[in-house]
Order: sequence, then C-alpha cells, then structure tokens
Amino acid sequence: MIILGVETSCDDTGIALIEKNSKGFRILSNVISSQIKIHAPYGGVVPNLAAREHLKNIEPCLKQALKQAKHPKIDLIAVTIGPGLIPSLLVGVNFAKALAYNWQKPIIGINHIEGHIYANWLSAAMTNKFPILCLVVSGGHTQLVLMKSHGKYQLLGQTRDDAAGEAFDKVAKLLNLGYPGGPIISQKAKQGNPKAFDLPRPMINSNNFDFSFSGLKTAVLHSLRSDLFDTPFCKRVYQKGLTSNMAASFQQAAIDVLIKKTIKAAKEYKVKNVMLSGGVAANQELRKQMAQSVKKELPNSNFYIPDYILCTDNAAMIATVAFHKKKPVPKQSWLQVEANANLKLIA
Ligand code: KG4
Ligand code: ZN
Repeated sequence: MIILGVETSCDDTGIALIEKNSKGFRILSNVISSQIKIHAPYGGVVPNLAAREHLKNIEPCLKQALKQAKHPKIDLIAVTIGPGLIPSLLVGVNFAKALAYNWQKPIIGINHIEGHIYANWLSAAMTNKFPILCLVVSGGHTQLVLMKSHGKYQLLGQTRDDAAGEAFDKVAKLLNLGYPGGPIISQKAKQGNPKAFDLPRPMINSNNFDFSFSGLKTAVLHSLRSDLFDTPFCKRVYQKGLTSNMAASFQQAAIDVLIKKTIKAAKEYKVKNVMLSGGVAANQELRKQMAQSVKKELPNSNFYIPDYILCTDNAAMIATVAFHKKKPVPKQSWLQVEANANLKLIA
C-alpha cells in the first residue's frame, strides 16, 4: 500500500510517498521545501507570505516526490488539516482535495500533532508496546501525551503559555541570533557553560504535567539586562562567551523541566515506552539527556526518537498516521476533508 502525504501547516511545504510492506514502512520520497529565508527577516513566520510560498512550491514538490519514488500507484492521500496557520493549511488541504478528485483516490485529513508522534514509526526499531508516553515539543506545541493504543490518546499536560520551540525562538531573538532559534541556540550552547546563569525551571515541581516557558524567556531578558547594567556600558554584551553561556543556560533550564516531567509521568502511568517528537526533538542535548534519564530512571522502558529530518515538519509523518487509521474512508471523501486551525488531538 502506498500513501501520498501532504503537509503545509506552517512554513514547510512537504510531499512524501510512503510504502507499507511486511517489513514495515519505507520512505519512497520525502520532499521538504523550507521557507526559512523568506521569514527570517521578520523574526518569525508571516502567515500570508507562508501561504503564497506554499502555493508556489507545492506543485514542484509533488513532481519531485513522484519522480524520486518512480511514479508508483497511489492508494490513499493523507493531508494535514490542523492545527496550524489557516492560510497555510488551506493551500495543502485544497491541493490534496483537488488531487483526490482528479485521480479519484480516497483522502483523509490528519492531525499535525499525531503526525509528529507517528514520525517515530518511521524508525526501524519502533515497537507497538503500549502504553507509550510521548513528549511532543514543537514551535507551536508542548504536550505530554499518553498513547494507550494506535489512535487512542490522553493529554496529560501541556504548556500554559509559550511552546518549547517558541521559547527557543524568542530567546534567540533576545540574543540577536536570528530565526529559527532552536538550531542556532543548540549550536551556540555547545561552546557555553550551562551553569553560567542561574535561570529558573518554571513549574518543575508542580503537582501536574503542565509546562510554562514564558517566565524562563523573561528571566533570560532580565539576566541580559542586569549583565549589561552592572558593567562598563554595553561592553559585556559583546564579551566573548556571553551569548553561548546564555544559550547553554537557557537550553539546560528548558531540558531540565522537559525531562523531569516526562520521567514523572512515565513512572506514574507505568508506560512501556517513551517517545520524543516535534522540531525541538532535533535538539542534540535533549535527545542525549532524555535517553540517559530514561535508561537510569526507567530501566524497563525503551526510548525512541525520530531521525533528525523527521523531527521538524514533513509529510512522511503525515502519511504514516494514515496507515494506522481503521475507519473506512467514505466515497467522495474529498467532500469531507476541511482545514481546522485549532484541531485538537483529543476531541
Ligand atoms: O515541528 P516543527 O518543525 O514545527 C511546528 O510544528 O511548530 O518545530 C519547529 C520548532 C522551532 O521552534 C525551532 O526553533 C525548533 O522546532 N527547533 C529546535 C531545534 N531544531 C528546531 N529547537 C531546539 N533545538 C533544535 N535543534
Ligand atoms: Zn510541526
């Protein structure tokens, strides 16, 4: 069975072809057209610009994906319907619906967060032993999700303000590092001392599985200011090491909270496996430290993370969700697929 995935929820245009055979999933093609250069001057994604770029890029992406996969026979189309930016979602959803109508193929709408979770099933070692705890950390979401079986979720906790990736992006902005912040902060952090700044770990000991990152971002701002004011004017901002030290200190504060809550939830719900996913799961330090903590604190659980390229937005993960959907696809399914910017994982 071969599924065509379409993803345009934010600023990446993604088209992928995935095959399922007796050995598991095989990525036939996974084309991603990034818009980073377009949005970088604005310090964040501009929704209408993103939609315009999706419109420009989606057809070339499809052509490339089909060519790379050697034009296989497609059985089903899977498209992200939300959550995301509505101008962006509408491009992918309408494009996919038009394809479904034109090719007379069934189509199903997929939740983007579910896509991030299922990126883990594209790695060869993935298991089907439930319950699984999944920490989804992206630019728009930070959620601890308990997965009881395929497609059955319980939301244990989520961010009350900024998402983890959003915090990386905003701190990068405060440090004048550019956009998107996550990859740049993690690079800078490699040369920095994570203990250089004593930043708070918001909600780390709270009696729930929620997160908060906006206070951490403000703490970075105040630390930068006080560092400025108690030294000869401005010089220290450009002092060697300050940016890397702040990047490392912020990154460690965020990682500490994410790990502590994940381990606590995994113990409380006695999960068999722990998974990480979403753009922030591409963070090397988070990957390394989470793996170490799971090994130490949950010796009977396995830990899974998608390959780097499958952590950030892509259509391969969207197609993979579709393989696990049990409900039969209705006739003329293109009439029923609609974008929904606020789509929830759990209805
Ligand atoms: O999943 P994603 O591609 O898009 C959303 O669904 O939001 O995630 C993008 C987010 C951005 O905030 C970006 O800064 C963050 O993931 N990110 C990282 C890293 N790579 C991307 N954050 C921390 N470390 C990274 N290496
Ligand atoms: Zn995403």
